[in-house]
Amino acid sequence: AEIVGEEKAELTLPPNVPPPIDRDHATKLVVNMEVTEEEKRLADGVTYTMWTFGGEVPGKFIRAREGDMIEFHLQNHPDNKLPHNIDLHAVNGPGGGAESTFTAPGRETVFTFRALNPGLYVYHCATAPVGMHIANGMYGLILIEPAEGLSEVDQEYYVMQSEFYTEGDYGERGLQPFDMDRAIKEDPEYVVFNGSVGSTTGDNAITSNPGDDVRLFVGNGGPNLTSSFHVIGEIFDRVHYEGGDRIQKNVQTTSVPAGGSAIVEFETEVPGDYILVDHAIFRAFNKGALATLSVSGEEDENIYTGQQLEQVYQPEGGAVQTIPQEKREEPAAQTIEERIERGKSVYSSVCQSCHMKDGSGIEGAFPPVAKSDYLNENPDRGISAIVHGLSGEITVNGETYDGVMPRQNLTNEEVANVTTYLLNSFDNEGGRVTPEDVERVRE
Ligand code: HEM
Ligand code: CU
Repeated sequence: AEIVGEEKAELTLPPNVPPPIDRDHATKLVVNMEVTEEEKRLADGVTYTMWTFGGEVPGKFIRAREGDMIEFHLQNHPDNKLPHNIDLHAVNGPGGGAESTFTAPGRETVFTFRALNPGLYVYHCATAPVGMHIANGMYGLILIEPAEGLSEVDQEYYVMQSEFYTEGDYGERGLQPFDMDRAIKEDPEYVVFNGSVGSTTGDNAITSNPGDDVRLFVGNGGPNLTSSFHVIGEIFDRVHYEGGDRIQKNVQTTSVPAGGSAIVEFETEVPGDYILVDHAIFRAFNKGALATLSVSGEEDENIYTGQQLEQVYQPEGGAVQTIPQEKREEPAAQTIEERIERGKSVYSSVCQSCHMKDGSGIEGAFPPVAKSDYLNENPDRGISAIVHGLSGEITVNGETYDGVMPRQNLTNEEVANVTTYLLNSFDNEGGRVTPEDVERVRE
């Protein structure tokens, strides 16, 4: 194809994507990408020195058209400490551009490549030690639109998974250095979407409306793990698996390998929050791989009714008058120490998966039970959350949550233990709860 004219590429930070290309010809497309090294938030109270393409992790999204001649400028900011380069998987040529772009701090390099193959491609730094440059945040996505364009949709977003290997354990506060041993063992403390725990939840959730067609450009920077990418409560109508031409329909979970991608498309039929996860599920609930797609608008009961009934279930019909929890009644704890110790084991088997081991919760999804003003103001609220469940908007330590905590099937004794444990742990204000307190709140 003939190259007509010249344009400067519009690049976007995640979760945004540049608009579809409406050109019917190839052009010379100039891409300016600046590398920075800066301390950024990895999780609440946790920071990390991230190396970025364009100021964020993942790097800026590049959108070009099949046939374009791309003049790539790699700029290494003068305040940086290290040289960097770029390997774009959309390039046909040595190192995917890495050999032409080795760039010292305060320098700029330029090379040109032809976008021969349409598809969604990962780019990353390939400067030694390569794994470390990638682990520190140096990856992003470049879309080469086919000449005929992609189908029209209502919303397009950019979501990229990756891992962080920190010296401190998950949630350990402060500036965390890179841990090479953990990286070699492929045992990350963090697995995240768009560069940090909670990057795309709460007010930063991606959004759509009922009836919208949504397209997610999904990438995986790795450096090590394959993502089992899934959206809870949605089915992908179409997946361009591995970011290529072929389409698979009606997919629940799609594999996105390290250094690979997928384009997933689905209609959001019903309002509500849809959680993007790596369905290797401990990564989602214990390492951060959660993001939210928030769909707001009219309900459609032809597709989804919401809960229609909730009642006691008695396996052997009306003949069995005791519900199972009463059979598990163990002798009452005698001392507060005993209560706390037993409560701790209830916490770790029942509560921890959502509220986290250190009680810090997950931003935008699960409120902290650590230093919780909501709980300390009135411990009955904690009891009530456990025995009745809790939903609707609440404010905990200045943050708003609007989630659903399911009612927990625990005995009064167990609830007293876990609540007493909570009040006496995680910087809460102390106190004790008895089974009689639980019975009072239950009624
Ligand atoms: C809210 C405790 C299990 C999800 C709360 C609150 C407490 C609490 C005290 C009030 C807000 C706060 O102080 O942070 C517990 C205890 C549990 C437990 C002791 C175990 C016995 C769970 C589980 C989940 C969960 C397993 C997830 C499936 C939530 C959510 C809220 C919440 C989403 C906020 C609800 C809203 O936004 O209205 N929990 N929780 N909790 N919990 Fe739990
Ligand atoms: Cu680098």
